[in-house]
Order: sequence, then C-alpha cells, then structure tokens
Amino acid sequence: MSDIKIGVVGIGGWGKNHVRVLNELRALEAVCDLNEERVKEFSRKYEVNGYTDLDRFLEHDLDGVIVSTPTKTHYEIALKSIEKGLHVFVEKPFTYNVDEGEKLVRRAKEKNVILTVGFIERFNPAIREAKRLVSNGVIGSPLYLLFARENRWPVHIIDVGVVLDTSIHDIDLSRWFFGEEPMMVFARMGAFGTEHERVSALVLGFSKEKTSLIISNWITPKKVRELEIVGENGTISLDFITQQIKIDLEDRTDIPRTRYEEPLLLELRHFIECINGTREPEVIGEDGVKATKIAHAALASNKLGSAIFIHLEK
Ligand SMILES: NC(=O)c1ccc[n+]([C@@H]2O[C@H](COP(=O)([O-])OP(=O)(O)OC[C@H]3O[C@@H](n4cnc5c(N)ncnc54)[C@H](O)[C@@H]3O)[C@@H](O)[C@H]2O)c1
Repeated sequence: MSDIKIGVVGIGGWGKNHVRVLNELRALEAVCDLNEERVKEFSRKYEVNGYTDLDRFLEHDLDGVIVSTPTKTHYEIALKSIEKGLHVFVEKPFTYNVDEGEKLVRRAKEKNVILTVGFIERFNPAIREAKRLVSNGVIGSPLYLLFARENRWPVHIIDVGVVLDTSIHDIDLSRWFFGEEPMMVFARMGAFGTEHERVSALVLGFSKEKTSLIISNWITPKKVRELEIVGENGTISLDFITQQIKIDLEDRTDIPRTRYEEPLLLELRHFIECINGTREPEVIGEDGVKATKIAHAALASNKLGSAIFIHLEK
C-alpha cells in the first residue's frame, strides 16, 4: 500500500496483530521486543529486522513506531521515538499517569511529529454508523450511553486494573460520541482480593443531563463488548465484536445491513495516511491525556466514595 516504514515495539498478545496487519499493508519494517525468542520468530516469519535493544531498533530507517508494550513502559519508549523525529502510535491507555502523557504531547509538537493513541473502537464501523444514525436524528436526542465490556482477567496484565486497561475505551468513546468533555465522574469498583480493580461501574456526567454509564469487568467468562445508545425516540444497540446494529423505535425494529471490517486494519491504514500527509489524525495525544485524567478521577472517586467534578479544556 505504501512506502511508509513502520516498526513495532512489543510483539506480545496484541503487538502481533499490529505486525500482521502492517505486513498486509506493506508497511512493516522492523520489530523490537525484550523477548529474544519472539523477536526471532517474528523477524523470520515476516522477513524484517528484529531487535531486542530499543536504541538499535531506533537507529533503523523508520518513519513511524507503534508502541505495544505494557502501559508503564509506554512513556519511555514513546519519548525516545519522538526524540528521534519519528511519528508515534502509542497503544491505549496512552500513559500510566497524566504528567507523562502531557510531556509526550509537548515534545511531539516541538518535534513536529504525529502522536496518536490506540483507541481502536473509534475505527469500529458499527459505532461510526451508530453515530451517523444519531446525527441524522433516527432516535432523537441521545440521553445516555450504556457500555458493557466484560470477560475473564487477562492474567498477563499486571501494571494496571480494568479501568485504565478496559474502561478507557469507553471513556474515550463517550467524549467522542458526545463531542464534549464530562464534568462529573462517579465510580464504584471492586478488586475482589487482587491488587487492582477487576470490576468497575463509572458514571460520566455531560452537559444537558446527558450521561454515560460504563460497566467493565475482568471476571465473567463470556466476552461482552456492547453499547446501547438511548435517545428520546428510540434505542440503538450495537455489538463491537460482530459489528451488528439494532434500532428499536416505538413501532418497529430495524437491523441495518453492515459490512464487517477489521478495526485494526482501518486504524493502521489511517496512521499510514496521516504519515503520508493525506489525512489528519482522528485521535491525538491530547485525547489520550484527557482519557487518562478521567480514568484517574474515576479511581479517586472510588477511593473517596463520592463524585468528582472535573474541568477539562476543550
Ligand atoms: N487496542 C486494543 O484493543 C488493545 C488490545 C490489547 C492490548 N492493548 C494494549 O497493547 C499493549 C500491549 O498489550 P499486550 O496484551 O500485547 O501485552 P503482552 O504482555 O502480551 O505483550 C507485551 C510485549 O511487550 C514486550 N515488552 C515489555 N517491555 C518491553 C520493553 N521495554 N521494550 C520492548 N518490549 C517490551 C514483552 O516482552 C511482550 O512481548 C498494552 O498497552 C495494552 O493495553 C490494546
């Protein structure tokens, strides 16, 4: 597809999908991971250069870098990549804390490079279609969003809990869907004997009484990724996995035909087009910072047992 050269840092459970899709898009140039076995396996499989040393990887001739390592390592790897003048895609949840994210945004601006965040659901055709239907007035004014994202604990994730890892998708989608920042966050969570929370119920309050309810858990065995958009004249339900949409109105139920497309392919193609200069990034570093701020407000709300009022600049 392009002559853009991208390297992937972190080729574990998720990074291997980046590698596969970039290879399909003919943009995969190099891989890097601390795990030597993985580097050998993937550099052989895709016939690209492989590195266990980040500095040597960054010496390679690259246009962009994907950071798909555990959350706590995102900042350091992204910063080094930016300092090299490379365009950077950082997997969600962007950074572990807000200060790190703000520094990355600042340095990316100074170095004039693209900095984007892996909020993959923004590229899910189902929610894009649902947003379009709502803008066309199909269910009237939206009143609230109800997200459910559930499945068993990913045991390899040890540095964050379900809020930063999982609810963060729906925090970002809520901001994007309503086109504004929440002003209130209330949360109730449970760790159930583990270090980090594994169950979370968040309430985000937006202007004009609009609300987003975000339920996430790492306990139930069935994988659920769903959203219900409740409007004054009807409801749109969607499944992020199957990408199916259902519209319930007073007198009928419609199931529009949708065509399945892999969100990661759409997301990475978009990143390549941004590097090419043919598109503007749909997700920017500031989106990562704001979602992180909201997630931390939620963690604080749970600790305090009360709502937290926040003010995020537009
Ligand atoms: N967008 C999505 O839907 C989605 C889905 C899953 C995971 N993720 C994100 O992707 C990232 C990776 O998650 P995962 O599930 O693949 O984790 P993982 O533990 O399976 O893989 C992480 C990989 O990074 C490597 N690594 C660790 N520290 C490193 C370092 N300093 N330098 C180079 N390599 C290093 C590890 O050896 C491992 O191979 C996380 O940020 C996670 O939140 C996003």
